[in-house]
Amino acid sequence: MINDAALAEKPTLHGPTITLVPLAAHHTEPMWRFTADEETNRLTGTRQAFTQDQIRTWCATRAEQPDRLDLAVEDPATGRFLGELALNDLDRDNASASFRIALTPGSTGRGIGTEATRLLLRHAFEEVRLHRVHLEVWAFNERAARAYEKAGFILEGRARQAHHWAGEFHDVLHMAALRDEWLAARAQAY
Ligand SMILES: CC(C)(COP(=O)(O)OP(=O)(O)OC[C@H]1O[C@@H](n2cnc3c(N)ncnc32)[C@H](O)[C@@H]1OP(=O)(O)O)[C@@H](O)C(=O)NCCC(=O)NCCS
Repeated sequence: MINDAALAEKPTLHGPTITLVPLAAHHTEPMWRFTADEETNRLTGTRQAFTQDQIRTWCATRAEQPDRLDLAVEDPATGRFLGELALNDLDRDNASASFRIALTPGSTGRGIGTEATRLLLRHAFEEVRLHRVHLEVWAFNERAARAYEKAGFILEGRARQAHHWAGEFHDVLHMAALRDEWLAARAQAY
């Protein structure tokens, strides 16, 4: 049902202001600094601290993964690392996968997240031929929910007090994009 080659062979995706490139060993240094950022960890719910070696191994082995995509967001003019995203947790039987993204603190609030998410969804639906891409976002992360909505995700539900962080429970929003809806919206936009 899906096109496995479009997951196994890592693409480079070009947008108007950013490029998505396969995450690789040379991203280790900026990725490692990024994973130590407290505010990013609060927004993504990352509880684990990583060593530089763990990050190096992670970055260096992404190209070998046949059933997921891990891409770095780069500034095409300078090659600067702006963040990373993933299409993961592939469910082949149901042609669906999960999506996550995190930009470096200096890269947020300028439309980059929306652009990167749109590029990834286009690849997921047109090349991988997935039927559904879904995600979870903490309800307090309104910027992320808005960017996902702009990129084509639709709110499906709210899991009340499902996320515990720093002594408080928070609601979790479930959002998804469907291939047919996404293609129809894209056709209308052109
Ligand atoms: C989530 C993330 C990818 C979004 O990308 P981004 O480039 O910052 O977002 P964009 O600039 O494309 O869009 C943000 C939208 O939210 C709006 N926004 C910003 N802050 C907001 C807030 N506090 N409340 C509501 N809306 C807000 C912006 O105005 C914009 O909408 P608009 O174009 O309609 O005005 C990025 O902020 C990020 O990586 N943050 C850190 C990690 C994170 O939160 N990851 C997501 C975990 S689920």
